[in-house]
Amino acid sequence: METLIQLDGVSYQVKGKVILKDIDLDLKKNEVVALTGPNGAGKTTLSKIIMGVLKASKGRVLIENQNVEELKLFEIGRKIGYMFQNPTHQIFMSTVKEELSFAMKYNKCSEEEIEASVNTMMTAFNLDIIGGHLTYHLSQGEKQRVALATILMNKPEYLILDEPFKGLDEEHKQQTMEYLKSIHKQGLGLMLITHDQKVIDAFANRIIIMGGGRVEEDKVIGPTD
Ligand SMILES: Nc1ncnc2c1ncn2[C@@H]1O[C@H](COP(=O)(O)OP(=O)(O)OP(=O)(O)O)[C@@H](O)[C@H]1O
Ligand SMILES: [Mg+2]
Repeated sequence: METLIQLDGVSYQVKGKVILKDIDLDLKKNEVVALTGPNGAGKTTLSKIIMGVLKASKGRVLIENQNVEELKLFEIGRKIGYMFQNPTHQIFMSTVKEELSFAMKYNKCSEEEIEASVNTMMTAFNLDIIGGHLTYHLSQGEKQRVALATILMNKPEYLILDEPFKGLDEEHKQQTMEYLKSIHKQGLGLMLITHDQKVIDAFANRIIIMGGGRVEEDKVIGPTD
């Protein structure tokens, strides 16, 4: 399987403080990577560098062999769906249904197509009953699910999710994992930034452990089917 995302000697520093040091990685679409490590290890920073939100101080990031610095943010976002550690600020339409419809409306899809896709996604994420609710009033766990469902409406090739299960109760966590597993089977690559050992055990086939801005361990723990 070809590499989708490649990091060559990526370092990042702010105000003289080294946050990431010499990171080399290759990420493939047939993997479910768990990126883990203690608070402050640099996981979120690394994901933001991949997405082009932050610029590496040294080294380079390639997405399908193109340097991210030569890509526009929306071009990266079209390939790689990204969910922030706190996705609250990622939601900007007033109702759940409008939020989910946004990308398809923007792309001038027909009303019928939009309705069908939005309904499928709402069912997959158990959002039917809150479809008409104001996004502003949603609970943390609901916002999390709406943000993820919205990202998936864009049909990305790869997903980077920063602590996606944190606000979720057990039932929604299971449901979300099952859904992610099913779309992984259809060819979507995944990086889950998580501290949750249960998620790692149940889901990941490669685990990357960071510590102090470095990759401390990178191991394949299961088949990449
Ligand atoms: N803009 C910034 N200025 C100064 N320090 C920063 C900045 N952004 C991040 N850091 C520091 O870089 C380190 C890595 O932060 P990062 O958010 O990437 O960690 P993390 O592994 O995602 O942690 P967590 O598990 O808590 O989410 C931390 O020590 C953090 O305080
Ligand atoms: Mg983080």
